[in-house]
Amino acid sequence: MADEKTITVSYPEADIAVLTLDTPGKGANILSKSVLDELAQHLSELEGRGDLAGLVIISAKPGIFIAGADLREFAASLNIPASETFQMCQRGQKLFARLSSVPFVTVAAIDGICVGGGAELSVWCDRRIMSDNPKSEFGFPEVKLGLFPGWGGTARTPRIIGIANAVEMVTGGESIDAATAYSLGLISDIAPVEELLQASIRLIRAEQHSQEFQRDRQRWRGPVNISDTELGFLGATASAVIQQQTKGQYPAPLAALEVMLGAAGADIDAACKSEAEGMSHLFGSPINAALLNVFFLTDRNKKDKGVDDQVTAAETRSVAVIGAGIMGAGIVAANAKREIPVALSDSSPDALARGYANVLKEVSYNKATKSADVHKAIHYATAINATRSDAEIAGCDLVIEAVVENADVKRQIYARIEPQMRDTAILASNTSTIPITGLAAKLQRPERFCGIHFFNPVRRMKLVEVIRGERTSDETIATAVAYAKRIGKSPIVVNDGPGFLVNRLLLPYMNESLELLAEGAAIDEIEKAAKRFGMPMGPITLYDVVGLDTAFYAGRTMWEAFPDRIAASPILPALVKAGRLGQKSGLGFFSYQNKKQQGVPDPELRKFVEPYLKGVPRSFSADELTSRLFLPMLLEATRVIQDKIVRNVRDIDLGLIFGLGFPPFKGGLLFWADTLGADKILEMLKPFESLQRMRPTPLLEQLARERRRFYDL
Ligand code: NAI
Repeated sequence: MADEKTITVSYPEADIAVLTLDTPGKGANILSKSVLDELAQHLSELEGRGDLAGLVIISAKPGIFIAGADLREFAASLNIPASETFQMCQRGQKLFARLSSVPFVTVAAIDGICVGGGAELSVWCDRRIMSDNPKSEFGFPEVKLGLFPGWGGTARTPRIIGIANAVEMVTGGESIDAATAYSLGLISDIAPVEELLQASIRLIRAEQHSQEFQRDRQRWRGPVNISDTELGFLGATASAVIQQQTKGQYPAPLAALEVMLGAAGADIDAACKSEAEGMSHLFGSPINAALLNVFFLTDRNKKDKGVDDQVTAAETRSVAVIGAGIMGAGIVAANAKREIPVALSDSSPDALARGYANVLKEVSYNKATKSADVHKAIHYATAINATRSDAEIAGCDLVIEAVVENADVKRQIYARIEPQMRDTAILASNTSTIPITGLAAKLQRPERFCGIHFFNPVRRMKLVEVIRGERTSDETIATAVAYAKRIGKSPIVVNDGPGFLVNRLLLPYMNESLELLAEGAAIDEIEKAAKRFGMPMGPITLYDVVGLDTAFYAGRTMWEAFPDRIAASPILPALVKAGRLGQKSGLGFFSYQNKKQQGVPDPELRKFVEPYLKGVPRSFSADELTSRLFLPMLLEATRVIQDKIVRNVRDIDLGLIFGLGFPPFKGGLLFWADTLGADKILEMLKPFESLQRMRPTPLLEQLARERRRFYDL
């Protein structure tokens, strides 16, 4: 409710004020405009008292201090002029700066998440304390939204922890834990949650006595302590790292670096001013808007239960995976890491042993030492049951089949396992192409069957497609969605159909790259066009990674389903026939016979392309290549919407970003299309009228006519 307040004031001791944040009805404290106004009002009142020794800012929400600024307010004001962004930043900076000028000690008492604007508020306090809650984290994730901290974070942090540490935190966008914050000198103490307030008061008393905070106030108002030589060195190394990580596609980290280096020799007011100026260039930029959209897509996905009505998900207490290959092993590892008891089986004892070893290798990996951790291995070994007993598999709450992509083999397994399963248990397939409804045809309980389609490698890809067959029940979908979330995935629910969602959109794009090749486009030009657009790799490399045989079989499903628009390229079977299966066989479109397994051009490829050339090789413009690659994907997306494959058009964007690595800085396929507008897309399609597959679809034409966006659907 509008008049309900987030901040309340209390006085645990006569000269100690506590501002407690607790946004009513929300899981997290957010620094909206009204909360900032509340803070301003409280500070004015407290400043006027004249009898305070200290102020503690704390949250009443366990595990969350402040989650940052109100991004919905940001999203609603993306069109404001740069001068207004500048003002918005300066207002925030001035408000928070009062925390380091009031006539008493200020302490941020942080339990749980403290990020973005919350971290900025905290760095303006004289002191910070964090709880020993393992969830406690401190960070500036703004670069992930195409921004950088704009309420003094870039100005104040280098003055407290040194510019190199601050640059790493701000430009990397990753949070740090309490121990790291302590070692950097960012916080003064780590205390148990229940003692956080008392520890803060103790700190105030100590500061009252030592007056150390006054000396720090003075120091942190001045320039950063660093020589020009060190600054030059930091600039060179940090910008090289940033260039490498962002590939020049995300401007915010580099802009943050520039602002921080540029203001290092200035006082805090000048540093704040250049921060606000820098932000005024980033705020509302197309990349900022796109990345905010990705944030909202993710947020929406977190809240989505996968079903529209009030269906409750059952708890999945145990999982079995049949098939110990690449996917099966990855799925088992994902379960083990979330401490879900999991069984693994395979018809081949060798494959089972190999799969089990692969799982252990993955779950026992220690990032810090870059090697296997024996304790982890022992811990997980007991949680994973490698078994050949059907009864042990069938006794689990969820059985995921991940055997070879062959409908008959899959059906035979179901016929054997399903009768032994509990009525309430769920059977799922990880198939990437075979329609779920057909697989369920002979099941006793088709309502308890669905697709749970993971992406390769499971460890890295967040997307899971939960596929609803014609007879799948809502409870089954809700349970599958809740389960996928529990193992850290972002599930989207899609209706059954060839290629489901992601592969259906991927195939036209990959296929088009072969058409371009046959028209004489240079392979590296095709690859460059995709990468320039922002894809993690080019489509031809992707063929080699997926495996040309696998791509051929997956492609066949699509060619058969949509012969009008997807032509089967003869290049693919020719390569498969010659045993060139991609990375795994050492040769595909590229050669992988060097030591690093990195694809290099292979002159022999000519032999497989030349017989199928459709015209005289010519050069293609960059725009032409981009249109040819990505418009078929977009056109297919319009058909997916018309076929009601997705519940919400936003699932298409989330699916492509998390399942394919579609560039987040474009905000998603449809978000990108909306920034262009349907009219413009029709114009881009015009030159390709002669190609049936590039003709506008009815939905696209309708949007152009009605001047509507995909996101309005
Ligand atoms: P894989 O070939 O690595 O593993 C399949 C495993 O199934 C083998 O270990 C094999 O011994 C076992 N198997 C075969 N028949 C069996 C039977 N009757 N009973 C028990 N085990 C049997 O295959 P991969 O790549 O792991 O694929 C498995 C499934 O996942 C397929 O349906 C595939 O379409 C799907 N998928 C594959 C992706 C990929 O990128 N590899 C991505 C997403 C889904």
